[in-house]
Amino acid sequence: MQITILAIESSCDDTSAAVIQDSKIRSNIVANQEVHKEYGGVVPELASRAHQQHIIPVVDQALKVAGVRPDELSAIACTRGPGLLGSLLVGVSFAKAMALALDIPLIDVHHMKAHILAHFIEPPVPSFPFLCLTVSGGHTQLLRVDAPLQMTVLGETLDDAVGEAFDKTAKLLGLPYPGGPLIDRYARQGNPQAFSFPIPQVEGLHFSFSGLKTSILHFLQKQSRQDRQFIEKHLPDICASVQHTFVQILIQKLEQAVKQTGITEVGIAGGVSANSALRAALQQKAEQAGWRVFIPAMQYCTDNAAMIAMAAHYQYMEGKFASLQMHATARWSI
Ligand code: KG4
Ligand code: ZN
Repeated sequence: MQITILAIESSCDDTSAAVIQDSKIRSNIVANQEVHKEYGGVVPELASRAHQQHIIPVVDQALKVAGVRPDELSAIACTRGPGLLGSLLVGVSFAKAMALALDIPLIDVHHMKAHILAHFIEPPVPSFPFLCLTVSGGHTQLLRVDAPLQMTVLGETLDDAVGEAFDKTAKLLGLPYPGGPLIDRYARQGNPQAFSFPIPQVEGLHFSFSGLKTSILHFLQKQSRQDRQFIEKHLPDICASVQHTFVQILIQKLEQAVKQTGITEVGIAGGVSANSALRAALQQKAEQAGWRVFIPAMQYCTDNAAMIAMAAHYQYMEGKFASLQMHATARWSI
């Protein structure tokens, strides 16, 4: 019998629903929230309210596109955490209510594990074991993946996520939220060697971006005292140099992880994997050092329910279900 699962993602500011049949994604609908743009970051209370507005139409459309009726579903999956509690609650409550009404199992998915399992939505897929670097607005983690549901965190950020560092730097430069893609765009016309910023020395395979953010702030303040138009005049060079530093930090840690583990299959996931300099640097590594590099299609890199559905598929196969007493969990380690 075919296994059909409806999956819901609502951990941050995207409301998404997807349908998976066996291991094939049949639909993946995402509603973005525009409300946060003017605030320079995600406002949790507004995110939660927008999820409530979006969830029914998004689920409805996911079922419609997949051509699946609710009574054909084998299970309902949702992101249990980590994420913003008010946002998670919307998806978790909705999923529980639907599982109860249809009398089918509930599956609770870990958002970060799902980012990694996004690599299995479409070929080419990495083989086990592989290393995965998850880079987004909320996460920076380096993992060793031995099986779909067996992964170990090798290192993670001790403070800001790399996407957050991109966005905060963009804010210092007067660019709107989210600034990561704009830094990428301006950097294309700039010189990555124009300015240099210190690479933080962090033990093991961990990361830290907050000290670097402070040095960027001090650099900009100092330069702007001497020339009030400094940022305006040098925007492409500043963006290229900052981006180069972020990418160097990520690549150096990956090199260290490859050396330490002997694993040369390397995947990246999360919104920052859209960054053109990071992609180019990884591609170069693949050619020079013989790594095999995997980057899921963009729609599966940013937050989406297809990756939740993929994780739910593996959990269903192993009989890993949740009870209706399950709680949304804002902080949840892998
Ligand atoms: O995975 P994602 O959509 O959402 C979560 O944070 O979970 O990632 C969003 C992050 C933002 O910080 C955004 O600035 C960053 O990804 N981002 C980029 C690029 N595209 C998105 N950062 C650098 N360069 C890009 N091209
Ligand atoms: Zn995410």
